[in-house]
Amino acid sequence: MRQIREAWGSRFGFILAAAGSAVGLGNIWKFPYIAGENGGAAFVFVYLICIAIIGFPVLISEILIGRTTQKNPVGAFDALSHSKFWISIGFLGVIAGFMILSFYSVIGGWTLGYVGETLAGNLSNFHNPEEAGALFGQLVGSVTWGVGFHTLFFATVMFIVIRGVQGGIERSSKIMMPVLLFILIILIIRGVTLEGASRGLAFLWVPDWGKINGQSILIALGHAFFTLSLGMGAMLTYGSYMSKKDNVVSSAAQIVFLDTLIAIMAGVAIFSAVFASGLDPAAGPGLIFQTLPAVFSSMPGGVYFSFLFFLLMAIAALTSAISLLEVVVAYFVDERGWSRKGAALVFGGSIYLLGIPSALSFNVMSNMTLSGKTFFDIVDFLASNILLPFGGLMIAVFTGWIWSRTAVISSLKAGAEHLFEVFPAFEGIWLVFLKFVAPILITLVLLNSLGVL
Ligand code: PFF
Repeated sequence: MRQIREAWGSRFGFILAAAGSAVGLGNIWKFPYIAGENGGAAFVFVYLICIAIIGFPVLISEILIGRTTQKNPVGAFDALSHSKFWISIGFLGVIAGFMILSFYSVIGGWTLGYVGETLAGNLSNFHNPEEAGALFGQLVGSVTWGVGFHTLFFATVMFIVIRGVQGGIERSSKIMMPVLLFILIILIIRGVTLEGASRGLAFLWVPDWGKINGQSILIALGHAFFTLSLGMGAMLTYGSYMSKKDNVVSSAAQIVFLDTLIAIMAGVAIFSAVFASGLDPAAGPGLIFQTLPAVFSSMPGGVYFSFLFFLLMAIAALTSAISLLEVVVAYFVDERGWSRKGAALVFGGSIYLLGIPSALSFNVMSNMTLSGKTFFDIVDFLASNILLPFGGLMIAVFTGWIWSRTAVISSLKAGAEHLFEVFPAFEGIWLVFLKFVAPILITLVLLNSLGVL
């Protein structure tokens, strides 16, 4: 006998879990450093536009496909199209989940490791970022440290997913997301009250348009996907546990709002502190693990803030990693009849193993490269720069062109009747973005990733 499919306990629970998926390393680690490298405020502005014109419409469409079919990505495309091509697109999402989680867990492990290093008192005596960088190199260069924290991070993710949609994902998000916001507020207060913080704020608010070019626009677009967890069925899967009475449009708007708010808040906390210490905002991927520990060392009570900061990152990473594993688990539970626990252990275990060469890419495998890219770089590139935009493109095309217009619109309106009464034009605008704007812009991002542009 088929069991009743799991579902969220409440709409609020869904919003927190979906915002938990969206808010991750992308917001706290990647967004600040790419904004720093691409000129600050002007980049933030372009990013906001990308979120509004691509991220928001595609997010609505992903959640809608999930809610309508109440299935995982493969089952959802099967139910709506019965076509092998679209089923394989759903399958690519499951593969992307597999790949992203494998390397995401390695960085997630670093954040846990940094919480530990702070508690051990190893992160408070730096005089400059070079010293902090040397420790970072030493830590990620150690096989036991890298693989050890990857293991701890992964075990936590599996533990939560095994407990189910309501008892695991929703419940943990309801605790972790408020804690995350609370920590971020404390860090902002600390950051902006430091002497010299205003230069950091100016960096985020006063645009230097000279820094914007085709390349930075494409970076902003690509990041809009990653940060909203789009293009691989994570939001589709979370949407599939939603009730048909819930409003998809306003839920999507709330998720976008929370994700953007938290990225900007992280930017404020980080840049005010970085500028107050006179350090380089364009330090790249090392901004968080090398520049920030030097910033914390120079500030009164820095250890406490360092502890809070890395805990914040660990929480953000965990709630995102959970959604990645859930895509894979949902597929095996829905389509292949696995139990949740069995699927989480067997396939989670395989993803964990695939993550080991990524952890080793920073030490024993660092010299094994293919056109300059380590194993970690290759998996990250294929999944984040190719599979996600491609998946997003397909989702836009499917909703805009393949799914029957009457069916899409009646699905979209269910639960959102009020919105369509006050703003009937929404339907047409949304479809134009999905049919034309999103596909054209996403194709440009893809061509850029492939080196064609
Ligand atoms: N949105 C997450 C972040 O910003 O870190 C990353 C992510 C999670 C991407 C889940 C894709 C996904 F399905």
